[in-house]
Amino acid sequence: MIAAPSNKGVTEPGLRLSPLVFLFYFCILRRISLKASKVSIPELLKKKQLGEPITMLTAYDFPMAKQIDESGVDLILVGDSLGMVVLGYNSTLPVTMEDMLHHAKAVSRAVKRALIIGDMPFMSYQVSTEKAVENAGRFLKEAGCDAIKLEGGKNVVDKIKAIVRAGIPVMGHIGLTPQSATALGGYKVQGKDLESAKSLIEDAISICEAGVFSIVLECVPDELAKIITKKVSVPTIGIGAGPYCDGQVLVTNDLLGLYEKFIPSFVKRYINLAPEIKKALASYVTEVKEREFPSEQYCFKASKELIKALKDWENQN
Ligand code: KIV
Repeated sequence: MIAAPSNKGVTEPGLRLSPLVFLFYFCILRRISLKASKVSIPELLKKKQLGEPITMLTAYDFPMAKQIDESGVDLILVGDSLGMVVLGYNSTLPVTMEDMLHHAKAVSRAVKRALIIGDMPFMSYQVSTEKAVENAGRFLKEAGCDAIKLEGGKNVVDKIKAIVRAGIPVMGHIGLTPQSATALGGYKVQGKDLESAKSLIEDAISICEAGVFSIVLECVPDELAKIITKKVSVPTIGIGAGPYCDGQVLVTNDLLGLYEKFIPSFVKRYINLAPEIKKALASYVTEVKEREFPSEQYCFKASKELIKALKDWENQN
């Protein structure tokens, strides 16, 4: 028998949804749209115009990228800091394109909402514009990133223009650029005198004109970051650059207390996970040694029939 169509739950013409029902559907739709929609570059520009801070964190693997994405950050950078905080190198210089792609693929498998940026490693863009475009393209084509980041100011304008012409969004990075730390005299605050401050302002304007959609400002005095942020039309994302930038980025392993070798003074540790992890691992080792683990709760029990059959078999063999 075919049931007659029911009018239950259907709003009659002229009838209004009650405010509570409306709020319920609004919240559901908002949740769906927050979950499903990927952060876009125009949204970032809008945030700058509205003065809404942009959030960015680094990620290098699937489980952490998933947690970070679900925290609601706008941007996830697969940074070449990978070399130091995950691969155990003393600098970012040894990181290769293959290292970056391997980790970027894991990150992009986990991320649904944040815009993913692949960091161009040392010597993947410096040699020629052709190489720069080719390697930038690999981040999008092979690793599922949405954009790339590269370090440098006026000196990389030709590379930025070529990559942008190829349809790949580029994030700039000026101030302390770790790939040229040796040339800069170490991991030091940049733009501390008028000459170098003016040079950084010029760098920011040049790369903005070359087409970057955003600029990372690393380790510069806050008042200089304020001027740069006012002078460029694209969002600035600060790391050790004070509160006047349009957004902030930190290396996730630093803020979680997972990188113990060194902690820059501009990093706020929101939790200190390394000692907690050590404690948990030491408990595991002790419990195994003392035969406390695995207790019954963690075992698969054999059926009575199987126990009897095994005993019979043992007796015969
Ligand atoms: O590699 C990285 O993590 C970075 C951030 C510090 C911006 O470049």
